[in-house]
This record gives sequence, structure tokens and C-alpha cells, in this order.
Amino acid sequence: STGHFTFDPGFMSTASCESKITYIDGDKGILLHRGYPIEQLAEKSDYLETCYLLLNGELPTAEQKAQFVSTVKNHTMVHEQLKSFLNGFRRDAHPMAIMCGVVGALSAFYHDSLDINDPHHREISAVRLVAKMPTIAAMVYKYSIGQPLMYPRNDLSYSENFLHMMFNTPCEIKPISPVLAKAMDRIFILHADHEQNASTSTVRLAGSTGANPFACIAAGIAALWGPAHGGANEAVLTMLDEIGDVSNVEKFLAKAKDKNDPFKLMGFGHRVYKNFDPRAKVMKQTCDEVLGELGINDPQLDLAMKLEEIALNDPYFAERNLYPNVDFYSGIILKAIGIPTSMFTVIFALARTVGWISHWKEMIASGQKIGRPRQLYTGHTKRDLPR
Ligand code: SDX
Repeated sequence: STGHFTFDPGFMSTASCESKITYIDGDKGILLHRGYPIEQLAEKSDYLETCYLLLNGELPTAEQKAQFVSTVKNHTMVHEQLKSFLNGFRRDAHPMAIMCGVVGALSAFYHDSLDINDPHHREISAVRLVAKMPTIAAMVYKYSIGQPLMYPRNDLSYSENFLHMMFNTPCEIKPISPVLAKAMDRIFILHADHEQNASTSTVRLAGSTGANPFACIAAGIAALWGPAHGGANEAVLTMLDEIGDVSNVEKFLAKAKDKNDPFKLMGFGHRVYKNFDPRAKVMKQTCDEVLGELGINDPQLDLAMKLEEIALNDPYFAERNLYPNVDFYSGIILKAIGIPTSMFTVIFALARTVGWISHWKEMIASGQKIGRPRQLYTGHTKRDLPR
């Protein structure tokens, strides 16, 4: 009907769609993908298997897994001409700025899979996106430091190949550390999907218009960039740098609690979790393992742990159920892997692409109508031009 609708700014209590992909119980801190707990996926699955699960609804058989991995590997290269896009960007551009542009531009290269009404085309686009994101992310990094771009290597696993393209050069191909590859893979799993978060909702809204999947994912990347969302992983490290020392924690907590100060404790709080983000727990454990195995003693980890401890014991955070979220510890692991801070949100986008495209596929298959929120108009009533 016209005229009757609910006013719900920020979608605090509005379900925008039906979905079978991911379940969250925010009070209990539960996260399930297709029914499987995130802790078990992080421990016993690998990223490409989790991708298959998200995209198809069931775990693959050994044969389906091998087929899927091989199909993804078939699509790891990007069109050579895509490189010339990079040259249009300043070398000091933020990598997320480049990602928005380059991923959006994919629709100009892969014309053969843009018919969204064809399930086979949708499938190919999904695989292309999952396969090409590591290549594009690594290209963006190499461009920013002025090194030659590295081609993907299909004899390596998804995570090994990503680290190879990030850190190797044509003059020196070093073997990829299994510890780092495993940590990278786990970070990818932990970021793979999270139901109707702001970027996924953006992808769905863009997709509901019939826009092509590459354009929709570019919209998701743009939404993810903000510091209240995926940009928080970068913001956490910037914040830890600013705090500098445990002796300054109280001062920064006072700023976070001050309503007149825009500063927020980055990596804390969540719209849905009113308990620990289960991903943050796995992330913390991974962080301890990785730093332990690499023998790294990172004072920023000590600072983060102290900050967490003080915040969790502070009534302001307790009353508002503010706990560490997925972004709180991920940056410390990424840093240990050697990934620069400005690439953190790119890593989130790379890993989340499968979630975005799974939601896009589910939505297109369900024949959802165009998304079109209404508004509460608070402007002028009708008036005449003064002439
Ligand atoms: C992600 O949605 C998803 O699922 C996202 C995500 C995913 O996987 O897709 O999980 C990924 O985006 C994680 C979140 C990363 N963002 C941050 O870490 C940035 C810091 N956190 C916040 O800005 C905030 O907590 C949000 C954006 C995450 C959630 O915002 P809400 O649900 O709108 O909550 P709110 O801002 O209304 O906060 C409620 C209260 C307020 O105080 P009061 O006005 O009630 O007195 O808590 C306070 C807020 O001021 N508050 C904080 C705070 N977060 C909330 N105070 C200090 N520091 C914080 N971090």
C-alpha cells in the first residue's frame, strides 16, 4: 500500500530479505555458515572449500572440491589490458580506491558472462570474482611499491598463491611459509560472509536493479571501505600507533566514552553481536599461534590485549555490550604476515567477495524485486517560487 511503512533508520529491526546462507545469534555469539559453526570451518576447512559451501549450500565431495579448485585456478589471470588501468592511478592512491575502480572495470572485460538471467553466466562470474580477487589485490600492492606485477601460480594453494604474488619478485621466488599461508587462509575463512552487513546489503541493493555482478561487487567494496565497517581493521592499527603505550590507554578510553568526541574504539562494538564476536576469539588464538611460531614479540599485541582487558572491565563498555569484533586482532596477524596497513581492508574485500557473490546469486535466483526503501519526509511543504 502507499502511505504505510515503518520508519527504521539504519535497519535496526528490518529484515531486508530471506536467506539460507549465514546465521548469527548476536546474544550468544554464534555464527554458522550453511549450518556449520565458524570455529569448525576455521579449524578444519580451507578457504576454497568454505567458498564452495557458501556458494552451493553443501560441502563438496572430494571430486567436487577438486573440480571447483581447478575451475578457480583456470580463472586466476586477469586480462592483460587491465594492467593499463592501474597506470591511471597515482602510486600513493589508497589501495581501496584502486580496488573500487579496477573491480568495477571487470565488467568491461568479461562480456561473455554478463547475462544475469542465465544461471551458467552467474556461476562463471562468481568463480571469476573469487579467482581474480587475489591477483587484483596483489597487483594493486605491487603497483603501489613500484615492483613488477607477479602472475598467479596455479601449482600453489589459493593462499600460497596470494602470498607469492604479494611478496615474490621475478628475480627472487622464495617458498611460501606454510605457517603464514595457513594464517592467511584462516583470515580469509573468518571474513568470508556475515549475512546482511552494510556491504552485502549494498551488493544486494545494487544487484536488485539487474546491474552486472562486477558492478555490484565494486559497490560492495566501496561500502566496505568505511571505518565503521571493513575499514576498521586498518583503523585499529592506526589507533594502536596513536595510543603508543599502555600508559595512554585510559586517556583514549576517556575519549571513546566522550559523546562530544567523534573518536570510537576501533575494532569494538557490533550491530548484531552483543557478546564476543566468535571470529574475534578465533582471530586472537590465531594471532597467538602465528606470533608464537614466527617468534615475533609484537608490543602492539600486548597493547591490544591490555586495551581489551581495560575496556571489558569498564562499565561504559559493559553496559553497551561492546566487545572486540572481527577487526580487532586481524591487523596484528596481517602485520606479522608482512602486509602493510593500507592493504588490510583490501584483504577483507578479497575474502568477503565470496559472501557478496553468494548473496547476489541467492537473490537473483529468488527473483527478488528491486530494493526501494521509503523515507520520512521532513522538508518543506509545497511552496511557490518567489517569481
Ligand atoms: C564490521 O555488520 C556486520 O556484520 C559487519 C562485520 C562484517 O563481517 O561484515 O562484522 C564487519 O564492520 C565490524 C565492525 C567494525 N567497526 C568498528 O570496529 C568501528 C567501531 N565500532 C562502531 O562504530 C560501532 O560499534 C558499529 C558501527 C560496529 C555498530 O554500530 P551500531 O550498532 O549503530 O551501534 P551504536 O553506534 O548505536 O552504538 C551503541 C552505543 C552508543 O552509545 P550510546 O549513544 O548508546 O551512549 O555504543 C557506543 C555508541 O556511542 N559505541 C561505542 C563504540 N561502538 C559503539 N563507543 C565507543 N567505542 C565504540 N567502538
